[in-house]
Formats: sequence, C-alpha cells, structure tokens
Amino acid sequence: MLTKDYDKNYLLGGAIAASQAEGGYREGGKGISTQDLRYLDPSWTPKQIENKHQNNPFSREEYRRALKDNDTKNYPLRRGVDFYHNYKNDIKMFADMGLQIFRTSISWSRIFPNGDEKIPNESGIQYYRNMFKECKKYGIKVFATMIHYDIPINLVEKYGGWENRIIIKFFERYVTVLYKRLGDLVDYWLPFNEINAAKFSPWDGVCLIPGTEKNLNQKIFQCLHHQFLCSARAVQLGRKLVPGKLVGGMIARFTTYPATSKPEDNLQAIQDDQYSNWFYLDVLARGYYPEYMYRYFDEINVQVHFEPGDKELLKDGTVGFVSFSYYFSQVSTNDSGWEKTAGNLIMTKKNPYLKESEWGWQIDPVGLRFTLNQIYDRYHLPVIVAENGIGAHDELTSDGCIHDDYRIAYLKAHLDQLDKAVKDGVDLIAYTMWGIIDIVSCGPLTMDKRYGVIYVDLDNGGNGTGKRYKKDSYYWYKDRIKQHIR
Ligand code: BG6
Repeated sequence: MLTKDYDKNYLLGGAIAASQAEGGYREGGKGISTQDLRYLDPSWTPKQIENKHQNNPFSREEYRRALKDNDTKNYPLRRGVDFYHNYKNDIKMFADMGLQIFRTSISWSRIFPNGDEKIPNESGIQYYRNMFKECKKYGIKVFATMIHYDIPINLVEKYGGWENRIIIKFFERYVTVLYKRLGDLVDYWLPFNEINAAKFSPWDGVCLIPGTEKNLNQKIFQCLHHQFLCSARAVQLGRKLVPGKLVGGMIARFTTYPATSKPEDNLQAIQDDQYSNWFYLDVLARGYYPEYMYRYFDEINVQVHFEPGDKELLKDGTVGFVSFSYYFSQVSTNDSGWEKTAGNLIMTKKNPYLKESEWGWQIDPVGLRFTLNQIYDRYHLPVIVAENGIGAHDELTSDGCIHDDYRIAYLKAHLDQLDKAVKDGVDLIAYTMWGIIDIVSCGPLTMDKRYGVIYVDLDNGGNGTGKRYKKDSYYWYKDRIKQHIR
C-alpha cells in the first residue's frame, strides 16, 4: 500500500518588517530609506489612500520635501512601533507564546546608510546581531528578509535605483556582509519580499512613482529583471558563504478561480495566474522567463534587456524554497462589469461565496490549501507561508483586554487548512503569521488596521503609551502552538 508519513513538523511563527516596526529612524547611523518618505494625511479618504499606495505615493514636490529634516508631516514608518528599542521585551513575549520562528527584515539603510559605501555601519550590524541572538536565546529560529520594500534613498537619488544595473554590485556587497556577519544566526534567507510588488505597487517594489513615469511598464520589468539577477546572486553567494542554509523566493499570492464555468473565464484565470503569480516564481524557481510572457511583453510593449551571462545566472541561481503572502482570493472573468472589491496591493473581483474583512479583502481559508497544493505541485520545493493574517480595528478595554474573536476565527480556519495541505503532501517548512505584533500597516500607513496577537497602544499620529497588551488571540495562538508541537 502507498502511504506517506505526513510531516507535521513545520514551524509556527510570526512576521514583521523593519520599516513598519522598528522606528529608530536616524538612530545608530541609519540612512534614509525609500519607505521613510511615505506620509499620512488625516484628511485622506480610504479610497485616496488605496490609490496613493498602488499608483501615486507622492508627487515629486512632496518627495523632495520629505527629504528635508524640517518637514513636519506625519511619517508613521519613521516611528513604527519602536521595535528598535523594545525588541527584547517583544521577543520575550514571542517566546512566552512558544513561537518557533520569527520573520523580520533587515533594513539595508542600517547596514549601508547610503547603499554605496565600501565599509558597513557597525552599529547597524550589531543591532541585528543582538536582536537575532535574543531570538536564539529562546530557541526561536530566524527567517530574514533582505529587502522588504525599503532601500537607501541615495541609491534612487544618485543612480536611479533598480533601473541601473550598478545596483546589483551594491546589493552583492550588502548580501556578502549579511552572510558573513549575521549568517551564523539566520536559519532561512529571503532576498526579496513579494517580488511581484514591482508590478502592483511600483514604489514599494522597485521605487518608481507611477504618476510620474512615461514608459512605466518598460521600467518596471527592467527593474524587476535586475531584482531577479540580484536574487540569483544571493543564492550563489549563499552557497559559498552560508552553505547548507536555504535562500528562497516570495510573491504576494493572488489566488484566483474562474468566476463561472465559461471557457473564457477559465482562460482568464490561467492568464491572470501567469501574469500576476507564476511568472515571478517561475523565474526564481525554474531559472528562466516562461514562454507565455513573450506574448504578454509584446502586447504591453516591453523589451527586457538581457546582458551576456544573465540567462546563465538566472539558471544557476534558482531558489531553495518558495514562499508567499496569502490574504485573500479573487475570481477571474472577462466580464468587465463584474463587481470589484479591494485586496492586498490590487483591486480584485468579488466571489459571492466569500465574506470580507473590514478592508474588503475576501477571506478564503480553503484557498490557502488550494494555493499550497498548486505551488508545491508546480515546483516541488519546500514552502513557507511567509504572511497570513487579518487586519482589523481592535478595541482595548478599560481592563487591558482585547477580545479579538474574529482574529481567532480567521487564524483557526487558515491553520486547519494548512494542516490539510500538509496531509495532501505539501512539504511545508513554516507558517509565519502577519504581523505577530501590531505594526504600522503598509498600505494605509495607519495603526488602525491591526494584525497582531499583541496590541501596541499607539494611534495613527504616534500618540499613546506604546505599551504592549496580550490579545485573546495571543492566548489562543499559544495554545495552538502547544498542541502543534506535542
Ligand atoms: C504585504 C506586505 O503585502 O501585506 C506587508 O508584505 C503588509 O508589508 C501586508 O503589511 C498587509 O498589508 P497592509 O497594507 O494591510 O499592511
């Protein structure tokens, strides 16, 4: 009889990103990063915020102003939740919960404030060494993202950012320092958070301001090509400098189903999947541009410039695991009148069978099992669910509690499907829920949209005590982890 021992040994953890959590804006010699420029205006409507995030984060004038020290606008990402000073206490709370793995990103501008120096900033290295050591002290594994959207602004100002191939050289220098100085403390490496953000949120992904660019698509895909090459170099350098450690790839997963059984909708679903999801993972995991992109590039008038050696580099530098963020699913149809709703980084089409979060993101736990099966089937590489969670308005009661039963329901439903996917045969390394502690949300830039199982008493303007409180979901997750490792 054919049997498979189903491996339930995957790790349960939590994730955050440097720019949304750390604060410590110019401390320890940190340089200004591209995410430090994004600001929040209280008069904006949710629609305007959505549009700013996806299409036009700021005008050139606002960008220039943000670079000046005397600017008084509200820059929430410069404050984060002050993880920079509180990490010991926060990691202790993770450890008390039994967290097995912690995902965070390293801020390039802490290691190389301008991105192009030859000598790294020792205080930035020490900060990450100390923080990762704190995880190790409690037996928590470390999953480190090298770039979670933010790069030193100097690289954009002086060289044109990802458009200029010279960035590959600076990135190699950065990665070499990370491997040599932090390699002993990191268990899993991820060069890029959600590499497909390039297309769907160009400032985050490749530091382009859509409203101000002429040949936007051409620029996006050329920048992306340079990121693919960087990822491949990170894999190659990893083999040499941190042998035995896995270096992976990641997308924001836009899971899609055909809206109806119409052949046109089925074809649309395949194409949406190719252009939004598979292309990115295919290059990272298979090491070449898939044929279906040739027609697409033709249609949108894009010609990606390859230099001699690029093809070979992509082929040689394929990733050791695949990972993705998963927040919602959508439907695909060629019916242009189909009702729309919001989703992470994109507008999506409504599925009448699904409920939505307060932000309109369609909640689909079964879609997580579906996605895991699809991805494992396609690449046969170990998988990490790098982000999954629900953004919600939480209420801190007068006795210091947060009754977030909606978050418990969300996490339970998704984790149950995760277990089923593992039984289906998926080789799962870890699940790192987003964001284990409340942090500044990336799209709206607010504290109102909270994901954590730990509450942070700060509002959108940075007012509050900054004190941490355990939500009901904290106790629930702790118990789930206990059951999991038993
Ligand atoms: C992911 C990003 O796309 O979505 C995170 O990697 C982000 O940085 C998360 O926080 C949730 O999005 P938001 O806009 O609700 O914070």
